[in-house]
Amino acid sequence: MSGGGRDGMNPLRQLSLDQLRQRTSAKWREYPDDVLPLWVAEMDVPLAEPVARAITDAVARGDTGYAAGTAYPQALAEFARRRWGWDGLALERTALVPDVMHGVMEALRLVTEPGCAVVVNCPVYPPFYAFVAHADRRIVEAPLGAELRIDFGTLEDAFRRARADGRPAAYLLCNPHNPTGVVHTADELAAVAELAERHGVRVIADEIHAPVVAGGARFVPYLSVPGAENGLSLMSASKGWNLAGLRGALLVAGPAAAGELARVPFEVSESTSHLGVIAHTAAFRDGGEWLDALLTGLDDNRRLLAALLAEHLPAIRHRPGQATYLAWLDCRALGLGDDPAAVFLDRGRVALTSGVAFGTGGAGHARLNLATAPELLTEAVRRMAAAVTVA
Ligand SMILES: Cc1ncc(COP(=O)(O)O)c(C=O)c1O
Repeated sequence: MSGGGRDGMNPLRQLSLDQLRQRTSAKWREYPDDVLPLWVAEMDVPLAEPVARAITDAVARGDTGYAAGTAYPQALAEFARRRWGWDGLALERTALVPDVMHGVMEALRLVTEPGCAVVVNCPVYPPFYAFVAHADRRIVEAPLGAELRIDFGTLEDAFRRARADGRPAAYLLCNPHNPTGVVHTADELAAVAELAERHGVRVIADEIHAPVVAGGARFVPYLSVPGAENGLSLMSASKGWNLAGLRGALLVAGPAAAGELARVPFEVSESTSHLGVIAHTAAFRDGGEWLDALLTGLDDNRRLLAALLAEHLPAIRHRPGQATYLAWLDCRALGLGDDPAAVFLDRGRVALTSGVAFGTGGAGHARLNLATAPELLTEAVRRMAAAVTVA
């Protein structure tokens, strides 16, 4: 599928459907071969060359032991300085964690106790619900407001409910937000910090999608805003470079949370994959050029998707995201019920993620993963439109 010039650089144009179907990961194995899979957050890209080289070199050395050292936080700190103009990531305030969601659970253990409340902005990444429950905490929903942004009145009400029993509480912020692709502004994040401080709620920011911003958008790290000193953040190269199979993440603490971070058990950090750490380090350190080519390809795909929907499925409401490679589709006007993804799968043979699992506000919606070749994106929308026509 690769063309010359700019297209030749686009990682989303390198692999054919036949090549992708040979993959054994979840995206390509969950559904039968007649289904076009645009669901789970994996990308249809080859591994970035610097990452592939780092991994194959390690394998050639037999370097497959336990993770050690500070190369990963060092690479992230330099990436944060270059990309986000943030120089506040201190190596001594980072801990390796096996992956982002296990890092979220560790962070919850640091700042809350079993039975405590965790506030989330629904609709939101479904594992937030599952992992909070698995950590024996309880969810308090603060639905997103107008234009799918944080509604501060709703958030304050949720903070009050979360703290009503006088026990510690946390706010699991998704920055940028999955599934809407909203990038929170510096002002919004500072308002979050102020509100959290006022209500005694601790902020844990999941910033896994931070590298994947659209042209013109600017990611602001939560820990960089005034008032966020006791915050915790989870960062990873997993989404930016498609490394879910090479797991690893960093739990990063603001200056006032350093003491808590020090309580992360050694065993947790040691459970992080050494090969994962090598891959993530190479991505943040040497993967900038590859990332830029990806971001250009994703910008093209966001525009393509908007045009395809306007032409073939104008009843779907969709606001192109400022980050992530996920598109949140409001399908309520199609009259397909609470779970339009089920209809697109049954009648169109295209797999999206059902909106229902994203919590309150998710019914009638579906999430589409646009990190694929433009041809496959085009075919997916064609199939969705055919499914609706059949209806
Ligand atoms: C917001 C968010 N957090 C966490 C994850 C998963 O991260 P990990 O596989 O490192 O646990 C994802 C994956 O898509 C995600 O979108």
